[in-house]
Amino acid sequence: MKPLRVDSVQDQLQTRWLGRSLNVKTSTESTNDDAREALDSGAVEGHVILAEHQTKGRGSRGRKWESPSGQDLYLSIVYRPSLGLDRLPCLALTVGLGVCDAVHQLLGRPAEVKWPNDVLLDRDKCAGILIESASTGHQLHGTILGIGLNVNRTHFSAELEGQATSLAIVAKRSFDRCHVLCLLLRCVESRLDELGRDGPETILDQLEPLLAYRGAHVEIQGVRGIALGLSNTGGFRVRQSDGTVQTLHSGVLEPKTHPGA
Ligand code: BTN
Repeated sequence: MKPLRVDSVQDQLQTRWLGRSLNVKTSTESTNDDAREALDSGAVEGHVILAEHQTKGRGSRGRKWESPSGQDLYLSIVYRPSLGLDRLPCLALTVGLGVCDAVHQLLGRPAEVKWPNDVLLDRDKCAGILIESASTGHQLHGTILGIGLNVNRTHFSAELEGQATSLAIVAKRSFDRCHVLCLLLRCVESRLDELGRDGPETILDQLEPLLAYRGAHVEIQGVRGIALGLSNTGGFRVRQSDGTVQTLHSGVLEPKTHPGA
């Protein structure tokens, strides 16, 4: 696979601020850790660290993110949002919407967001988003927006087999990662600009029709019921069998085939 080069990316990049400062590493432990260091040392807004390979790539809830060399995209963005800590879930959803936009343009068909931070194609995961924040008390200093997008991988570990997919698997062809990266950054920038300009409500409204499992039986953190969709803070609303509606603010959404399953 052709390695990603900073100069080729910058030649094709159509963003205003996202990725204009870019560091491409051959290998690193986790780009989220590198971006956190960059944030703490005052990196410019939209600075991106990308790695061809991560030795300790991580997902949410302490899971690992498989990061084999030269096939997919692993990147982290330094971003200082003007949002309260309580609105952070909206940030992951905003990035998710940007990832969906890019995938839709590349494949000519919509992707879905599985709350709170997965992007699905044919109900299998093709991208994950890991937002980490730096804060003191209620004061948010900045965030790291980590994105892993499965681009050209066609085989996954036994653990992920049957749950993960890639652009290449769905399209039955491989993709130029430089092109995918530039489009991804443009789409994410556009959604972050929209979040800053118009606020979370407009993002959440546009995300609602792309939500996976809306109307289905689901379980999140032990709460079972019908998936109603997003709350106005980016939480997820579930109607339980007794009619009460619970809003979950974190957790893993698990589809259930029927109410008692
Ligand atoms: C998830 O689905 O659980 C989130 C996965 C996030 C993976 C990306 S890859 C780039 C960045 N560096 C990491 O260590 N994780 C994120």
